[in-house]
Amino acid sequence: MSNNEQKRVAGEAAIRYVEDGTVVGVGTGSTVAFFIEALAGIKDRIQGAVSSSENSTAQLRKHGIPVFDLNATGPLALYVDGADECDPHKRLIKGGGAALTREKIIAQVAQKFVCIVDPSKRVDLLGKFPLPIEVIPMARSLVGREIVKRGGNPVWRDGVVTDNGNWIIDVHGWQIADPVALESDLNQIPGIVTVGLFARRPADVVLIGDKVM
Ligand code: 5RP
Repeated sequence: MSNNEQKRVAGEAAIRYVEDGTVVGVGTGSTVAFFIEALAGIKDRIQGAVSSSENSTAQLRKHGIPVFDLNATGPLALYVDGADECDPHKRLIKGGGAALTREKIIAQVAQKFVCIVDPSKRVDLLGKFPLPIEVIPMARSLVGREIVKRGGNPVWRDGVVTDNGNWIIDVHGWQIADPVALESDLNQIPGIVTVGLFARRPADVVLIGDKVM
């Protein structure tokens, strides 16, 4: 089965975690797009969704799925999202699609975070995929210098503006042995909005195709 086919299988498999009558947290990306298609098939069983990006919102609305403001819903039972890398402890690198900030907010309020990936995303050590960091534009150079001090190679994702009006720096060259410590450390740097490490709040379930990890 191709990786794209495995993404579709994972997206469809996540439907079994959706509880009737709830508002579902929805992530961003090509794997999530398959989940949204499957969600459309059961849309009469749910109240609607909270979305992590303008792209996902558009896809949800196209299917007539109501999209709610997170401030109006309170905590969510379920969040379904993809990842760029996933380690054996279900810690993730996310943000390849530049939606990491809203993704991290929804992950934080979700009782269960189900991550859907194809097998190419499974790694033993996080960091081969460049780590995305969302920054306030005026802090780009400051954050870049702080990353260099920590042995990383920061590359500005030129031309990309996030849904929040910020910029993305992708950090190359880090082998992340302690993702919780690195996430906590980077969170202290002024100007960083969100680090694409999901280690302090990892996934609860990872679906690799139809295999549960
Ligand atoms: C977007 C993300 C995505 O979940 C991640 O990039 C994986 O995307 P895809 O499912 O297209 O491989 O974090 O910010």
